[in-house]
Amino acid sequence: MKLSRTIPAAAAGALAAVAVRDLTQSKRAILHNYPVVGHLRYLLNDIRPEIQQYFIERNWDGRPYNRDIRSLIADRAAGKAGEQAFGTELEVYQVGYEYLVHSTAPVPMPDEAPKVRIGGPDCRQPYDISLLNVSAMSFGALSANAIRALNRGAALGGFAHDTGEGGLSPYHLEFGGDLVWEVGTGYYGCRTDDGDFDPDRFAEVAAHPSVKAVSLKLSQGAKPGIGGVLPGPKVTEEIAKIREVPVGVTCVSPPAHRVFSTPIELIEFIARMRDLADGKPVGFKLCVGSRVDLIAIGKAMIEVETAPDFIIVDGSEGGTGAAPLEFEDHVGMPLTHGLMMLHNVLVGLGLRDRIRVGASGKVAASNDIVKRIIQGADYTNAARAMMMATGCIQAQRCHTGKCPTGVATQSAWRQRGLVVSDKSEQVRSYQEETVKGAMRLMAAMGVSRTDDLDPTMLRQHVSATSTRSYAEIYEWLEPGELLHDPPKKWKADLKLADPSRFHHPNHR
Ligand SMILES: Cc1cc2nc3c(=O)[nH]c(=O)nc-3n(C[C@H](O)[C@H](O)[C@H](O)COP(=O)(O)O)c2cc1C
Repeated sequence: MKLSRTIPAAAAGALAAVAVRDLTQSKRAILHNYPVVGHLRYLLNDIRPEIQQYFIERNWDGRPYNRDIRSLIADRAAGKAGEQAFGTELEVYQVGYEYLVHSTAPVPMPDEAPKVRIGGPDCRQPYDISLLNVSAMSFGALSANAIRALNRGAALGGFAHDTGEGGLSPYHLEFGGDLVWEVGTGYYGCRTDDGDFDPDRFAEVAAHPSVKAVSLKLSQGAKPGIGGVLPGPKVTEEIAKIREVPVGVTCVSPPAHRVFSTPIELIEFIARMRDLADGKPVGFKLCVGSRVDLIAIGKAMIEVETAPDFIIVDGSEGGTGAAPLEFEDHVGMPLTHGLMMLHNVLVGLGLRDRIRVGASGKVAASNDIVKRIIQGADYTNAARAMMMATGCIQAQRCHTGKCPTGVATQSAWRQRGLVVSDKSEQVRSYQEETVKGAMRLMAAMGVSRTDDLDPTMLRQHVSATSTRSYAEIYEWLEPGELLHDPPKKWKADLKLADPSRFHHPNHR
């Protein structure tokens, strides 16, 4: 045979062999979905530091690409601790740079990661939640296989998986992972034909043994003040059945809830849901808007004489499957301020002891967990980091349905590459290593219990030449202070906060 024929034949044979190997492996969804050409992505990945020198690119946490959080998540998902050579490349003298304060006498790391008990005095079925859980992402935004992988990961690792507002799907139930069932303004899974709340359907779904808690969604950091839209063509028969809406008709979650319109009604509704859920913990999720609203909701708790079992604060830096850019970038309070504000309001009104606080918004690494606890959280949730542990490469095509890794799509073809047994293991491993990392940080700080973390342990560069601790920079109220002796700066908001109406800027 002539050489001119042998070489192309050999090359074609080699490519065919690579294609077969790519198609039969289950580790990498990209190679499975895009055999042979998918290697280009990994090649580019490997030479990223070199490319970066030409296109000084930065990742979502502001770090250079070769030191990014995505590599850390990938390492942890692969069961590694996520170590790096050489030293920090962060600009440590920059104003705003923050660091945790280590102890000269570190303590041993606890053997077991602590859990946080959710369930106030009116809760009859408390739930012990992990320090890091899967944040709300609906079936519809995510594929069936992604939901399966997250839920199986949660079952293997003993942490919680929030369903997102799209209702409880069969994929949430296949592996028995603990669920926080989220109910949004669309009341998917518990709605009447005309979109109202259906108490009987609610009680039925809440009774499922996998549902450990119910979260009422008020708002989300990436798009506070607007509801969600799932365009008609994406409302498949399956999604329509789960959400209890008509097939092919655009499915809109309205911006506001129908069942309450005042803080008092909100708290009464929380109490009603808890009764309907047979005493399981019920809470709400919000991106903080105004301090007046938080105080009004707190006052409503005092007036109604009950409270949610937990509140999740979502930062404006949080993610979404789809939202207008102006909302993603310019509406809502960032997590640091929203979290500390909520914590202070609850402490100041004497309510903090009975309510657990969750935090979400770019929680991805162990230091994020520790920092959020210092700022007032009891536990954290992560959405995008969990997506990355499931194989997301941040292609940012969730809203088009064309996610190349099969994570955020309804395309059966694209989901093929997401192998549930492998990806669920990655989710478990990422969560476990990251929580372990938080315990390691705490031990280095001389602390073995999350309750012993305090605002003196997080410091910030407030100018190029000085640092201050969170205890010094920010205000921390004493228990009941707003009731008995409110600081001057709080008096106007305390007066404006009315449990019988939500705050409007013009009310001031
Ligand atoms: C694909 C996707 C879908 C989401 N769907 C919901 C949802 O249904 N309900 C909700 O409350 N938040 C939803 N979120 C927001 C997350 O739960 C979380 O609050 C936010 O992304 C902040 O976390 P992160 O920075 O870890 O992503 C979604 C986020 C993403 C990325």
